[in-house]
Amino acid sequence: MKLTLILFLFLYLINYSNCNNDNKKLTEKLKNALNENNKNNKIKIWVFFNSKDFKIDNNNNNYIDNDYMLSLTSLNKESIERRLKRGSHKHSIIEESDLPVSEKYINQVLQCGNDNEIQIHQRSNWLNSISITIISNNMENIRNHVIPCISSKPFVESIDLVSKFKKPTIDQQTNHVQHKKNKFNKLNNIKLLQKSKNNNGDSDMDMGNENLFNEDFYGQSYRQIKQLNIDKLHKLGFDGTGVIILITDTGFYKQHEVFKNLNILGEYNFIEKNNRIEDEFNGTSESVEFSQNDHGTATLSVLAGFKKGHLVGTAYNASFLLARTESLDMEDVIEEDYFASAIEWGESRGAHLVSCSLGYQDWYNVASDLNGKISHMTKIADLASKKGMVVVSGIGNSGEDGLGAPADGNYVIAVGAVDAKGKRVDFSSVGPSSDSRIKPEVMALGNEVYLAGIMNTTNYVYYNGTSFSCPIVAGGIALLIQAHPNWTPYQIYDAVVRSASNSSHPDVYNGFGLFDAYASYKYNPEEGDCSNLGCRNGGVCINKECICPQGYYGYLCQYEKIKCGTRCHQLNGTCQVGDHISSPSYLCLNTIHLEEDTPYQLSTRLLTNFYILNLLFLIIIFLIQ
Ligand SMILES: *[C@@H]1O[C@H](CO)[C@@H](O)[C@H](O)[C@H]1NC(C)=O
Ligand SMILES: *[C@@H]1O[C@H](CO)[C@@H](O)[C@H](O)[C@H]1NC(C)=O
Ligand SMILES: *[C@@H]1O[C@H](CO)[C@@H](O)[C@H](O)[C@H]1NC(C)=O
Ligand SMILES: *[C@@H]1O[C@H](CO)[C@@H](O)[C@H](O)[C@H]1NC(C)=O
Ligand SMILES: *[C@@H]1O[C@H](CO)[C@@H](O)[C@H](O)[C@H]1NC(C)=O
Ligand SMILES: *[C@@H]1O[C@H](CO)[C@@H](O)[C@H](O)[C@H]1NC(C)=O
Repeated sequence: MKLTLILFLFLYLINYSNCNNDNKKLTEKLKNALNENNKNNKIKIWVFFNSKDFKIDNNNNNYIDNDYMLSLTSLNKESIERRLKRGSHKHSIIEESDLPVSEKYINQVLQCGNDNEIQIHQRSNWLNSISITIISNNMENIRNHVIPCISSKPFVESIDLVSKFKKPTIDQQTNHVQHKKNKFNKLNNIKLLQKSKNNNGDSDMDMGNENLFNEDFYGQSYRQIKQLNIDKLHKLGFDGTGVIILITDTGFYKQHEVFKNLNILGEYNFIEKNNRIEDEFNGTSESVEFSQNDHGTATLSVLAGFKKGHLVGTAYNASFLLARTESLDMEDVIEEDYFASAIEWGESRGAHLVSCSLGYQDWYNVASDLNGKISHMTKIADLASKKGMVVVSGIGNSGEDGLGAPADGNYVIAVGAVDAKGKRVDFSSVGPSSDSRIKPEVMALGNEVYLAGIMNTTNYVYYNGTSFSCPIVAGGIALLIQAHPNWTPYQIYDAVVRSASNSSHPDVYNGFGLFDAYASYKYNPEEGDCSNLGCRNGGVCINKECICPQGYYGYLCQYEKIKCGTRCHQLNGTCQVGDHISSPSYLCLNTIHLEEDTPYQLSTRLLTNFYILNLLFLIIIFLIQ
């Protein structure tokens, strides 16, 4: 009898801990969403797996058979070449993160729903996850059957909500999204266009000696280029030739005259899973409402456009991969899984650089979550840097409300906005990251940026936003990539921030200052990693990576963090208490999160379990006596 009871207790405990573990696989964000009164009866989630279900058939663990591994991936020649030259591969250029997600696991997850209850969207090899939508008759079924079925699988590591973002906050402070219709009446700048010379049609791409890289050549785009000394690199003959740039954005109006000679290597619409990346605008005022708000066209033109005397992009002779990851005509939301897929797609096709003018903030706690470790997009961005691809992102237009993901990434070059005089524009998001790294990295023109409009093939407009500061800098960095064929993203990051206008006095408003393309071209970043360079400021080099003491960051621990303080409190966060009373804190935590520990569902269950356990304990005591 006693034995039976003890056995029962034992089994119960095992069962209890299992159950608890399944629940632990769900993030707080997802638990909250499941408990919300969701009338749609549908939810979009990420399912993360704990392995690739792949055994390396070799006795030597460190040795990976590259040819075989390679055959499992879809990397092209350019991607492999770039990884070899610029990646920070430790043992092999193909890593486990490159292997495909296990089909077996995917099928088992899909079997957790009846009929068409589960729809699969994206697969991320790097995150080892899939994004799915569960559609059911009622939320109870999703909450009590489908989700528990998925979380009970031993190969499921965790489940999270797919973060969504309401687009208009991107250009909140400008008239850009809100007053779509009015804008078209007032912004076409005919007077300025007439002023510019050299508008002689077909000779646009004729780059003879008569190009002086002066105002006549750049037209109205001269301001945004001159401010960052990008014209000096053009003069030296760097124009982006041979550099592959990925752009993730809304649709692109490719008929515009500035794109006449655009070299497009690939295009993909991640939302519709087809090759339609065109802006939906068809020239009528009705369709303005349905257009992709011309955002993609605008950002692309600043980087890639070429119409002599009108608009010259910062890397006008580069090659492009165009990814449409945002759609505004459907529910007016953007979802992070499309971005993740687009980065992996571009990387595998050899992109050296990605320019992303989108930021995701709504679903993150700005005080605590933007520490480079939480957002899935940010993780993807940092993995891209490891594989040799530079990530440039707009920091966001939220001003004092802080930055969005993926701008918080460790090696993401986040760009803020200034006016023509170099003064920060109020809407430009203020840093730092939640772990006190300096953000933004650099600044560029984000006020009245001259770019291509979508009204017709010769339409030009002026827009505001860090969305446009970003491609200006990205193009400048493309020229650095062309000029220095072996620089890694870490060295490029170093060159960019160390040579910016205010690099010795960085702050959270202007970062390291204005980007200076010419100065970063001449900068001499150290070659190698910490195994030959060592770590600065007391960092320790382990496996070619520096473990930095708190207060420092960067691949050699060479950058100093600012102390956690005012900004954290402004965002309603709390600075983590240091080890010693006197030691400063470098981490901003979420105050609210600290107070309400466990969600309702979990705590009631724990309580119930506690009573049952007590009861069992009393019975045992009773029996023993
Ligand atoms: C951009 O900002 C300026 C003020 O700096 C303002 O006059 C202009 O209307 C804004 N443009 C748009 C498109 O919102
Ligand atoms: C782009 O580079 C090619 C050589 O790769 C050259 O023939 C062409 O003239 C360049 N175009 C421009 C606009 O500079
Ligand atoms: C343009 O698009 C709008 C909105 O989709 C549509 O109503 C209109 O018929 C289209 N016009 C033409 C000429 O295609
Ligand atoms: C292009 O569109 C703008 C803005 O609607 C208009 O002012 C301009 O006249 C158009 N140009 C041509 C050539 O149609
Ligand atoms: C550099 O930053 C310091 C402090 O952050 C600021 O006072 C100064 O005006 C900045 N200088 C320039 C040239 O931007
Ligand atoms: C901080 O809390 C105050 C008071 O609850 C609130 O008004 C404010 O919007 C919060 N700020 C942020 C950035 O969440």
